[in-house]
Amino acid sequence: MSLELCSTVSDFRDACDAIRASGRSLGLVPTMGALHSGHMALVDYARQQASSVAVSLFVNPTQFGPNEDLSRYPRDLAGDLEKCEAHGVSLIFAPPASEMYASDESTRVVVRGLTDGLCGAARPGHFDGVATIVTKLFAVVGPSIAVFGRKDYQQLKVVQRLVRDLLLPVRIFAHPTVREADGLALSSRNAYLTQEQRQRARAIPRGLLRAMHSFARGERRAVVLRDSVRDELGHAHLEAEYVTLADPESLAPVELGGAVGSTALLALAARIGSTRLIDNVVLGEETALSVSEEGSKAEGSEHA
Ligand code: PAF
Repeated sequence: MSLELCSTVSDFRDACDAIRASGRSLGLVPTMGALHSGHMALVDYARQQASSVAVSLFVNPTQFGPNEDLSRYPRDLAGDLEKCEAHGVSLIFAPPASEMYASDESTRVVVRGLTDGLCGAARPGHFDGVATIVTKLFAVVGPSIAVFGRKDYQQLKVVQRLVRDLLLPVRIFAHPTVREADGLALSSRNAYLTQEQRQRARAIPRGLLRAMHSFARGERRAVVLRDSVRDELGHAHLEAEYVTLADPESLAPVELGGAVGSTALLALAARIGSTRLIDNVVLGEETALSVSEEGSKAEGSEHA
């Protein structure tokens, strides 16, 4: 079936309804466009889980703060269409902001607690914007499954929580972070990096790997695990916004003077020039940083 491009909510809703009415299941991969192979791995995985896949391409203004990169966020509709066509996507939704937000809109979906720390601390309102747009997309599409990447680990937890709390009938799948050969996580924001910055960015996976090795050798002191990452970032002159150990489910931070348990989220945000990159691993769960085999390791949950 050929790829259909919709730019209005009503066209997209009709197209999604038609797919479901024909007895096909519908999967959703929400994105902000500028698709790279990390996104396409999510799409390929969604295609294994549902008979048709819709991809949204929407740079959501409500998840950007006033001094963030909304206006320069990469956009490439033609390239995105080509990639989606090549990967068997059925529907693309690329709406203008006015389709998603009425001029007098006044509703936000707020997930409390989970959004206090990590990226939520430095980006107030960010996860309200994410939770709101994801809820709207679910409301328009009515997908039976949706796929999110583990690179945005806090976002994944927020989406899982809102689906559980609002009793939404969609199953959320978490896809492993897709990485470059040197371990850097794929991100649309990598496009901002100069060659020199790209080299320095290797400190991020190096630090995470050091912490993983240290954890595998039995290290449990939070401060030592955290400093494995901070030291690598420091040597490469990357500014650490945060490097935090937290419970992988509640995202409650582990006291620096304390010890981690059998699993711990190790998450970071770092700045290289004006570019902000995030990454994470779950110690005790992940033992290597590898380029994922598309979808083979994705995990699904109805609630969690
Ligand atoms: O991860 C993203 O690209 C965005 O946060 C999402 C989930 C598409 C919501 O705008």
